[in-house]
Amino acid sequence: MHNFRWKISGVLLSSLLLFTATAQKKTIDQKVDSVLSLMTVEEKIGQLNQFNDNWRATGPVTVDNDKFNQIKNGQVGSLLNTLGTERTRSWQNVAMQSRLKIPLIFGQDVIHGYKTTFPIPLGEACSWDMDAIELTARVAATEASASGIHWTFAPMVDISRDPRWGRVMEGSGEDTYLGSKIAYARVKGFQGKSLGDTNSVMACVKHFAAYGAAIGGRDYNSVDMSDRTLWEVYLPPFKAAVDAGAATLMNAFNDINGVPSTGNKVLLRDILKGKWGFKGFVVTDWGTIGELVDHGYVANDYQAAQTAITAGADMDMESRCYKNNLAKLISDNKISINLLDDAVKRILKKKFELGLFDNPYKYCNPLRETNALNNNNHAKVAREAATKSIVLLKNEKNILPLSKNIKTIAFIGPLVKEVKQNKGFWDIDIPGADSSFIVSQWNGLQNKVGNNTNLLYAKGCEVDGDNKDGFAEAIAIAKQADVIILSIGEKRDMSGEAHSRSNINIPGIQEDLVKEMLATGKPVVVLINAGRPLVFNFTADNAPVILYTWWLGSEAGNAIADVLFGDYNPSAKITMTFPRVVGQIPFYYNHFNTGRPVVNEEDHVYKSSYRDIPSTPKYPFGYGLSYTTFGYSNLQLSKKKMAKKEKIEVSFTLTNTGNLDGEEIVQLYLRDKVSSLVRPIKELKDFTKLMLKAGESKTIKFVIDNEKLSFYNQQLIWDSEPGEFDLMIGASSEDIRLTDKFELVN
Ligand code: BGC
Repeated sequence: MHNFRWKISGVLLSSLLLFTATAQKKTIDQKVDSVLSLMTVEEKIGQLNQFNDNWRATGPVTVDNDKFNQIKNGQVGSLLNTLGTERTRSWQNVAMQSRLKIPLIFGQDVIHGYKTTFPIPLGEACSWDMDAIELTARVAATEASASGIHWTFAPMVDISRDPRWGRVMEGSGEDTYLGSKIAYARVKGFQGKSLGDTNSVMACVKHFAAYGAAIGGRDYNSVDMSDRTLWEVYLPPFKAAVDAGAATLMNAFNDINGVPSTGNKVLLRDILKGKWGFKGFVVTDWGTIGELVDHGYVANDYQAAQTAITAGADMDMESRCYKNNLAKLISDNKISINLLDDAVKRILKKKFELGLFDNPYKYCNPLRETNALNNNNHAKVAREAATKSIVLLKNEKNILPLSKNIKTIAFIGPLVKEVKQNKGFWDIDIPGADSSFIVSQWNGLQNKVGNNTNLLYAKGCEVDGDNKDGFAEAIAIAKQADVIILSIGEKRDMSGEAHSRSNINIPGIQEDLVKEMLATGKPVVVLINAGRPLVFNFTADNAPVILYTWWLGSEAGNAIADVLFGDYNPSAKITMTFPRVVGQIPFYYNHFNTGRPVVNEEDHVYKSSYRDIPSTPKYPFGYGLSYTTFGYSNLQLSKKKMAKKEKIEVSFTLTNTGNLDGEEIVQLYLRDKVSSLVRPIKELKDFTKLMLKAGESKTIKFVIDNEKLSFYNQQLIWDSEPGEFDLMIGASSEDIRLTDKFELVN
């Protein structure tokens, strides 16, 4: 146990006994001040340094053979990429040999699961299921915290309208309203009831800000954006995460309008720590303080450190700029000690809240680790989350769900027998753990079908390359089957950080394999595995059935089988627009109308269009099918005019008009018809997901209030303007089933 002796006066001690929540908070602040008063400048700077340990690095690693002594000398505040109770304990032991015994924080990218792997976040977002999303974050936190981790670098809440960007897989897609709800749910899930519970980890909301708008979808690229778009589209998910109590934020690699995020005082000090009242700390993204030099924003590391600390970056991930320059900056009077103290206090506070000063080994219990990493309930959660993430894009002639009495199924394709691929990018390989807990697609199907079904397999081809040698075998196998299931797509590491692509077609010759399978005349079900919306026009136009499975995690195989055979009726809807061709990007549903909109496809000359393709997406935002169908009727508004302080209640009837029970994600969109600034043609402003039995009807209610009608005006003030609004309710952003109008009056 840590043996720190508090400098607490008698007066303070008696006030402690009051035990109000505020008094409790004050106590931590006072403890922080006590520690701070004992620290030398070097020890203070030490708290601001985060070094990489030995696990998978995602950036240029600083060669540093003296980590041991630096930790022992109190020169390091945190490590990232340290996995497991054994290793975290051993480093914490070293920190306990430092003069003040200030514990280390261990951070890790627990993006979509720790050992148990959940669907990639973009896939999971397609569930529109906040409870399920919060639950997977909860389970991830339970496993990670049991394994010595205090802090996850998640959720990533970057809105993105560009599927070329490899990191779309980590976010929630293109919509701000949905993205904000998901950001909130994920923070709640990671942090649990309270920091300091042994199964909670600190969330780190990233990447502040607008990283998802990198020009051309090229990772790490610049962002050029109006303040209005920044405030209206890109910042709200961060605000939602801060409102959920996020303990930390990470800044971004990109510059915005020429100011690199790491040196962006307006973002970090004025908005985040000022206007939003954020009390946690900001960690830089990997090496970004040093990268201020590469941006050409400062001349050297000395200036970089000065710029970053002044802007409000509290902890330096891996650049060593703080370590090497802050002491001199202070002695040169270039930065005040208050600036340093503020950063240190923010970090120490979180260490207290985590309970690390009371027990630095609190998260290092090997028995708890073993139990948490072998909890069968976690696989159940993963399977449910995965089934909820699978999007049914097409299902001609109701080929799905498959009957469980099919005699012969041919399971074809390069991804059928893959194991680790199913985990997707940003997975974690627990040291020493084998992969047997990951359910391949092949094993999932085997688990599902009985002895009467004959399962055949052929690989057909690789994911990339142009070798068709395997086609003949695949065709021969396919011809013996009653149904062909074809699993194609990207490899797990074709998306993710540093995996932007200029061509997002299904790679290699996989669509040729689709053609061959269709030529057999058998029913073909295509599974598309990917970390982004891909372009696959041949398959989309010709295959009768398509399931978009993203990367589903450790229960991928079971979840896919559940959906194929109807044990789960698919309900997911895509949260990014799928373009027809890469040339349409950036492509998103909530765009402006322009002065020359395409109203009908036959008349697109001298209209805002491309001459060579239709103006519509291949699949629109919010789209996804079910094995059943839903009818929308009887729309009613409690009134047609509302003042700012009033509300309108909207209700309608949703009916399951098909033969199977199923869930529908109902979406409410609004359009501000005339305003002082051009507004999007529609914006998601509410949604709900509900289960209806076959034939069942339910009344659904939404409430329109002033918040839903507001936007950032020219003065960047969030407000509404009187006038008419279109109300649209539907099954996707394009499949609008019910419409009405109402008016906001003064
Ligand atoms: C990524 C971050 C990540 C960090 C640590 C960076 O390259 O941009 O999202 O948290 O590495 O792994």
